[in-house]
Amino acid sequence: MGKAMNANNKLTLALQAMDKWFDRQKRVLPWRNDPSFYRVWVSEIMLQQTQVVTVIPYFERFVARFPTVQSLAEAPLEDVLLLWSGLGYYSRARNLHRGAQEIVKNQEFPKTRESWLAIPGVGNYTAGAILSIADNQPEAILDGNVERVISRLRKVSREKGESLYKATLWTISKDLVELGHEHRICPSNLNQALMELGATVCIPRNPRCLLCPLTEICEAYKSQEQGSYPPKKKPKEWIIVEENLHCFVNETGEVLLRRRGSGEWRAGLWDLLEQKPQNLKVKPFLLGEIESRHIVTRHKIKRSTQIWRVKNVSGSEDLRWVPLKNPNLPMGSALKKTIQKVLVEFPGILSS
Ligand code: ADE
Repeated sequence: MGKAMNANNKLTLALQAMDKWFDRQKRVLPWRNDPSFYRVWVSEIMLQQTQVVTVIPYFERFVARFPTVQSLAEAPLEDVLLLWSGLGYYSRARNLHRGAQEIVKNQEFPKTRESWLAIPGVGNYTAGAILSIADNQPEAILDGNVERVISRLRKVSREKGESLYKATLWTISKDLVELGHEHRICPSNLNQALMELGATVCIPRNPRCLLCPLTEICEAYKSQEQGSYPPKKKPKEWIIVEENLHCFVNETGEVLLRRRGSGEWRAGLWDLLEQKPQNLKVKPFLLGEIESRHIVTRHKIKRSTQIWRVKNVSGSEDLRWVPLKNPNLPMGSALKKTIQKVLVEFPGILSS
């Protein structure tokens, strides 16, 4: 009993030190002003697969254009995807749009983990982050940054399998936020401090332990085994995807794009054609070919694009001619890169 009390006291002191550390050292980030449910939800979705520095300008443009959940729910999906262009993982934008419509229909934001989990795109981490940051609820979080901090604190191993590893980390995260809460450390601060430590101090290589408020209770620090945590996962198995595309450009420097249908990869985004259109009256002229490579989660994508000069063919709802220099349609970064390459490698393409 005495020993347990001591350990908990030591832990509480460390959490208090971390709370103060966060007040002093936190980065100024736009979603940290006015942390409403709406703003925290949007930021956490954007941060799911994207780094903070990349997210900042996208977040600012997004909340300027859609300042409320109502304005997002009422917007055409096309406008939402356009603001998302270049951020990647577009299902996040579709989910936010659909989620906004559900929240407006329910007339309030969800207030529990279970009801947040019913919103598309919200998993356990995001639900915990939103409830703790926007509503100060003592809910656990676990993302890559927090995993690193916690696995080092307690030297959590993967030896007994992935599910026990993850369950152990979640339990520790929950214990920390609940213990802090009992000692009046607000869950919003505590959880963001864990994320911030992982992002700025408890970093993957050469962690800055001398700046860390938790060294007193960190087991990996004690035995100088920081480099062994988090324990390594099995390497990824890559899925190789080859795409063959046609880039048709007319005499006025416009490119022919097709909107991908639902059920296709990157649904709703515009991209080059996979097949030649049927209604070509004049034979197109092949200018050349370019190649580009992209990585999306477990997919390695190789895109080969043939560049064609062509006389106008008529467009349709899902087939449009747009200026190559400024297409202004929702599209992924793969197409953005391809277009840049076409402009660099075929400088004369904009004139006939
Ligand atoms: N990464 C994920 N969520 C974050 C947040 N709220 N602040 C900083 N980095 C984060």
